[in-house]
Amino acid sequence: MGSIAAGRADIGTAAAEPADLRSVAAARQVRGTLSVPGDKSISHRAALFNALGEGDARVTNFSPGADCESTLGCLRQLGVQIDRDADRLHVRGVGLGGLREPADVLDCGNSGTSMRLLSGALAGAGVFAVLSGDGSLRRRPMARIVEPLRRAGAAIDGRDGGRLPPLVISPVPALAGVAHRLTVASAQVKSALLLAGLFARGETRVVEPAPTRDHTERLLKAMGADLRQAGDGISLSPGRTLRCVDVQVPGDFSSAAFWLVLGVLHPNAEIRVRDVGMNPSRTGLLTILEHMGANVVLENTRDVAGEPVADLVARSSELHATTVGGDLVALAIDEVPLVALLGLFADGETVVRDAAELRAKESDRLAVVADGLANLGADIERTADGWRICRSRLEAGHADSQGDHRMAMLFALAGTLGDGAEIAGADSVSISYPSFWADLQALSGT
Ligand code: S3P
Repeated sequence: MGSIAAGRADIGTAAAEPADLRSVAAARQVRGTLSVPGDKSISHRAALFNALGEGDARVTNFSPGADCESTLGCLRQLGVQIDRDADRLHVRGVGLGGLREPADVLDCGNSGTSMRLLSGALAGAGVFAVLSGDGSLRRRPMARIVEPLRRAGAAIDGRDGGRLPPLVISPVPALAGVAHRLTVASAQVKSALLLAGLFARGETRVVEPAPTRDHTERLLKAMGADLRQAGDGISLSPGRTLRCVDVQVPGDFSSAAFWLVLGVLHPNAEIRVRDVGMNPSRTGLLTILEHMGANVVLENTRDVAGEPVADLVARSSELHATTVGGDLVALAIDEVPLVALLGLFADGETVVRDAAELRAKESDRLAVVADGLANLGADIERTADGWRICRSRLEAGHADSQGDHRMAMLFALAGTLGDGAEIAGADSVSISYPSFWADLQALSGT
């Protein structure tokens, strides 16, 4: 990569490195205005739900990440016509009864959202389908969808009695409407069960242990589904036709989160991120940043196609330690690793708890964060369900993302803020944010 601030360690250049290893240098300043890619969660849903609808839909600012491409590939194999022109999609719905039996295994790549949401949609769709993915996805827990789908009458199985992919789904005459009380707070599980509920004979009810992102509820309602928030749960009654709706996807808060954190932590920073999705079920990190005393300002707050959107400005801040746990974890589930980095620059001891779910992500994020940051000189202790983090001076070093996109981006920030870093598994950023390295270079002027 490019230039290195005087006096800082140079630990290599991209040209001399093996593929998938990337060096970042310490930055003198991080300044600029940028947009982040379209929201990954909303993009998956815009493609999949419209595929199940009647009519056709245009989706704009569709995520450029490989995960959403996995969903599109699976949908095409299921007989859905989707035309793509850069970030614009044209989806022609096939209706709830219209999915075709795929001729081959559905490859979900690295994407848990693709596998879990498609499993829900296919459980009652009357087709035989096998869903698989890469090495990371094939290690991820699936009992959380397999068990409740079986209770609704689905014929679904997988390795280790249904705990692990590949998953195999066979046609059944009908699914029953079932009440589910989830044991993990997971929007993917909630969404899978609601999608299966579209094909069921009676009402499906889902009660979550803590609120999770609600993009599924918003979009299904906009398409005409009979979905209600009732008491402590969500109820869905089948029978209504789903109408295709156009979706303008906002910028991904989970991608913007990296720039907010870089902006508040760097002593010479002002970063403006435009058009960011501000759905309150996604923005737990803003609450955490506020608790820590960060200088993040919202501008131009507005509503775009049923989702709140704003421009966010992050400036250099003095932070104090915080404790993150409870319901806040689900509202910041993909951003919790960033709290470990924030804690390294805060006054006092920062504690993250109730976050054991991070072990079940694209990597074991509790371990990968602790190991990678410790290699860069961090004072971080891993606990059973989080970390204890103390203010540290980051040093140059090597950090292995284990091929996990969000870990690669986290270590890139650590290197930029500290003394540089060499990151293994750097290409994984293409899962959610293919232009991440270019944007980092632009902000740091390298
Ligand atoms: C997602 C939900 C979250 C999140 C993932 C995307 C979604 O997973 O970590 O990146 O789009 O529903 P869980 O529902 O498993 O927590």
